[in-house]
Amino acid sequence: MKKLLLTLFIVLNLSSLLASESKVCQKCHPLIYKEYYSSIHRKSSLESDKIYKAVFEKEKQVTDKNECKACHSPSAKTQKEAKEEPISCVYCHTITNIQEHDEQNKNVLSDKKRDFYSAEADKKEKAKVKYETTSSFFGLIKRSKNSPYHQIEYNNENYYNGNVCMGCHSHVNNAHGFDVVMLDAYIDKKDKETCISCHMPKTMGSKTTLRDSKTHAYHGIAGLHKFSKDLGKYIDIDVTKDTKGFTVNIINQANHALFGQAYREGILEVKIVRDGKHIALKPYIFKRTFGKDGKTSMPFEATEVLKDTLIYAKKSINYDTKLKKGDQLIITLGFRLISKEAAKELQLDKDKELTKIKVLKTESFAF
Ligand code: HEC
Ligand code: HEC
Ligand code: HEC
Ligand code: HEC
Ligand code: HEC
Repeated sequence: MKKLLLTLFIVLNLSSLLASESKVCQKCHPLIYKEYYSSIHRKSSLESDKIYKAVFEKEKQVTDKNECKACHSPSAKTQKEAKEEPISCVYCHTITNIQEHDEQNKNVLSDKKRDFYSAEADKKEKAKVKYETTSSFFGLIKRSKNSPYHQIEYNNENYYNGNVCMGCHSHVNNAHGFDVVMLDAYIDKKDKETCISCHMPKTMGSKTTLRDSKTHAYHGIAGLHKFSKDLGKYIDIDVTKDTKGFTVNIINQANHALFGQAYREGILEVKIVRDGKHIALKPYIFKRTFGKDGKTSMPFEATEVLKDTLIYAKKSINYDTKLKKGDQLIITLGFRLISKEAAKELQLDKDKELTKIKVLKTESFAF
């Protein structure tokens, strides 16, 4: 009963709050809202992301700024919205379909008010789910099902296979038709994991305060900014010894290239522990170097790739240091949000956090 009164109270108050719609969602989905608020999807605008801002400023001459907004702050009409909800709850949950285009894909929105898409395997055949109440004991106990604020459509396949992410994440081509994000993502029915299961894994805590559920989809987005170690489990590392030295094999279970974003770099550090001493070998860097007329260039003016050492499905790196019996190898796969060269170029080198090495995975092997 208390919950029901609360619900009515909230519903009656909602219409006056519509200025920032994500705040309305917060009333009944506080945990998801909290995660969202700390996520990269809330911090993707010029107001919150300094890397994006620096690149935007540098590239302003060669690009149309509205193109950037289409993915970085599509639901922001005001500066306040750009800060609070550049990619809002409603925006994501009303993506009906993805239109494929050469330069960049486009999200097709339903434009229906209070009618959202979501995924739940056992309700998948349900087109529209509305709020229901049932009462028992002559109306003394009321129970409710679903949401009093909105309908849910559970039958949109894009929310199951991860295609809902591809309007923004598939590719971003520059003016020369050159993809500068190149995650090389490809959605296949046979994939065991999807964009959603890896980056929005089920975590403890209820989806809504109106009904208890054990888990909810993590809206903080596991990625390089957060929970990167949880993602490490999708990258396998093994070592094979040979007469000249050894080879480190990296097997990527994701359906995209690793470290594809233009300014990132992945780093493989290998250390040998021998007779109590540590021998550090030269780190291997995973990245792409962009070029124009044979010289290095900024991504948005690039016409070619000068060098590409990214990890696609699998990558092997050879070392010519011979291993001895009793050696222990400690292998660490990490990354920098932006490389040191990029930091200098973008005048972000004062912020050491951006170029600090963070770890995705560490493994040790004995010989
Ligand atoms: C008055 C409370 C209330 C408000 C406000 C509210 N919701 Fe809900 N929402 C619910 C309830 C209750 C459910 C049903 C949960 C269930 O049945 O498991 C739900 C379910 C959902 C689901 C589907 C969950 C699933 O089972 O997959 C989505 C998506 C969702 N809400 C999004 C939103 C968004 C976006 C907003 C803000 C625009 C919002 N909600 C505002 C109460 C609310
Ligand atoms: C089609 C959608 C789309 C468009 C258009 C787009 N971006 Fe992005 N951008 C993304 C996505 C998705 C990511 C996150 C990719 C990743 O982390 O690998 C991203 C990430 C970035 C990053 C890295 C941010 C960070 O914190 O490391 C920069 C910088 C960036 N974009 C700049 C731009 C600029 C400048 C424009 C306009 C000229 C632009 N983008 C247009 C989708 C887009
Ligand atoms: C980047 C897109 C995106 C944004 C932004 C987003 N969601 Fe979601 N949300 C999803 C997807 C995809 C799912 C389906 C996850 C699943 O269950 O497989 C989902 C699931 C949900 C669910 C059901 C949870 C569950 O465990 O099934 C609720 C409730 C929800 N979202 C509410 C919100 C609210 C409230 C906000 C804003 C605070 C929000 N979403 C922002 C993409 C988004
Ligand atoms: C409206 C466009 C849009 C949609 C839809 C969208 N994203 Fe994003 N996403 C972005 C942008 C823009 C960034 C980069 C923000 C930045 O760094 O400034 C980003 C960043 C990310 C990152 C990088 C996080 C990190 O810590 O490095 C991940 C992972 C991600 N998104 C996953 C998803 C998943 C999974 C979905 C689908 C459920 C999704 N996104 C849907 C625009 C979108
Ligand atoms: C099997 C798990 C898995 C799946 C499926 C997966 N990813 Fe990832 N993703 C990862 C891992 C691991 C990383 C960290 C390494 C990296 O940054 O590339 C990552 C990184 C990312 C990043 C940040 C990349 C960067 O360099 O900034 C984005 C954006 C992203 N994924 C989006 C997606 C999208 C969109 C999909 C669906 C097409 C998807 N992922 C599917 C595991 C997965």
